[in-house]
Amino acid sequence: MLSEKSTATVRATLPAVGAAIGDITELFYEKLFEAHPELLRDLFNRGNQAAGLQKQALAGSIAAFATHLLAHPDTRPDVMLHRIAHKHASLGVTREQYPVVRTHLFAAIAEVLGEAVTPEVAEAWDEVYWLMANALAALEDRLYAGARVAAGDVWREWTVSGRAEETADCASFRLTPADGAPAPEFKPGQYVSVQVALADGARQIRQYSLTNAPGSPQLAITVKRVHGPAAQGPDGEVSNHLHAHVHPGDRLRVSVPYGDLVLQDSGAPLLLASAGIGCTPMLSMLDHLAHTGHTAPVTVVHADRSPADHALRTEHRALAGKLADCEALFWYEEAPEAGDRAGRVDLSDVPLAPGTRAYLCGPLPFMRATREQLLAKGVAAADIHYEVFGPDLWLATA
Ligand SMILES: Cc1cc2nc3c(=O)[nH]c(=O)nc-3n(C[C@H](O)[C@H](O)[C@H](O)COP(=O)(O)OP(=O)(O)OC[C@H]3O[C@@H](n4cnc5c(N)ncnc54)[C@H](O)[C@@H]3O)c2cc1C
Ligand code: HEM
Repeated sequence: MLSEKSTATVRATLPAVGAAIGDITELFYEKLFEAHPELLRDLFNRGNQAAGLQKQALAGSIAAFATHLLAHPDTRPDVMLHRIAHKHASLGVTREQYPVVRTHLFAAIAEVLGEAVTPEVAEAWDEVYWLMANALAALEDRLYAGARVAAGDVWREWTVSGRAEETADCASFRLTPADGAPAPEFKPGQYVSVQVALADGARQIRQYSLTNAPGSPQLAITVKRVHGPAAQGPDGEVSNHLHAHVHPGDRLRVSVPYGDLVLQDSGAPLLLASAGIGCTPMLSMLDHLAHTGHTAPVTVVHADRSPADHALRTEHRALAGKLADCEALFWYEEAPEAGDRAGRVDLSDVPLAPGTRAYLCGPLPFMRATREQLLAKGVAAADIHYEVFGPDLWLATA
């Protein structure tokens, strides 16, 4: 809990810090990477840095945390903290790195806000920082302990035991532990981080959702190649590297699985709604439900440009068909086939059982539109869960 003295100071300075937080985080990353270029090369996602997404995520999370402390001093924004901690754990972030971030963040605050940062103001925000950092580090320690690894020691060598081309832009990779150890446990909906050595020597990391059910000796991921529309940015680095260079027999550096969007196996009716490559966590959930003999109603919703663009379309439908009570509805903007629906997802005539729990994954506009429709149909806000395939910019504002 924030001390009384700091509460008053944070309350008085939050508007100024909030207004400048974008400038502060921009300068923070400049300072951090100037002092530690290896962090930009080998830990942070440099695509997100270039596009400004991580800056927004960090700024949004600090502002949301401080706002929460003032409004609800006795609780913590757990959903947000868990989401960040799972991402940090999948990257192997350790407690020892928090003072490094603090040094450069506070140097940036002092430079942007100038004389407004009196010793009293610095002390109050230092308290906010450590409340957040210690909460995250404690959650991360628990995640490492839960996976039975030392703090930060999440990386293992895997052998690519299979590869399949799913669509023009998607390929699936099957992974087997290179040391012959059993595959780690995970929950349906979780992801791994994958680190690859790029041509310029950088070792960039990206996350990929697991598509198979827990319990298999292998892990499976499906990777969509990102084309950078010429005007908006270059081709995606890691996805194109995996497509171009990774084949059966190759080694891959892969993290222990983490992720807070996991299927709660409570026997409730379910809606699994995805768009594009957002189908990947849904495949794992469906595979798991099929293995465990789930009997409550399940509605599968998927949106894609066309059937030919829908990665794992055959498996998606086949897994839905294995469940006792499941309807699979696929919407395509182009070339829908018999039994498919045309255009964008419209749930108005889709019946949902009372108490339905919904899981969403896809681009933010798809998830916003689907969430609106679900709320209008009476699904409780607390029963709508989602995954963003990038820094979660929705959480702080949702
Ligand atoms: C939890 C989670 C699960 C995920 N699961 C999957 C999955 O199952 N399958 C899957 O395919 N993906 C998944 N992703 C997405 C994946 O992690 C990568 O983000 C994706 O593969 C793109 O990575 P990349 O290195 O190819 O692209 P990047 O190089 O990171 O580029 C991403 C975007 O940034 C733009 N960009 C890069 N540099 C610049 C610049 N200088 N200026 C402007 N724009 C720039 C690029 O043009 C591109 O549009 C997941 C992500 C998360 C967070
Ligand atoms: C209190 C301190 C910190 C806060 C508030 C914070 C906040 C965040 C947030 C909001 C995200 C995005 C999560 C998402 O994907 O939705 C993130 C990701 C990340 N954080 Fe932290 N973080 C902190 C400390 C650290 C430290 C100490 C490190 C290690 C040096 C670190 C490294 C990373 C990396 C590498 C990512 C992924 C970046 C990307 O994919 O672009 N963070 N953090």
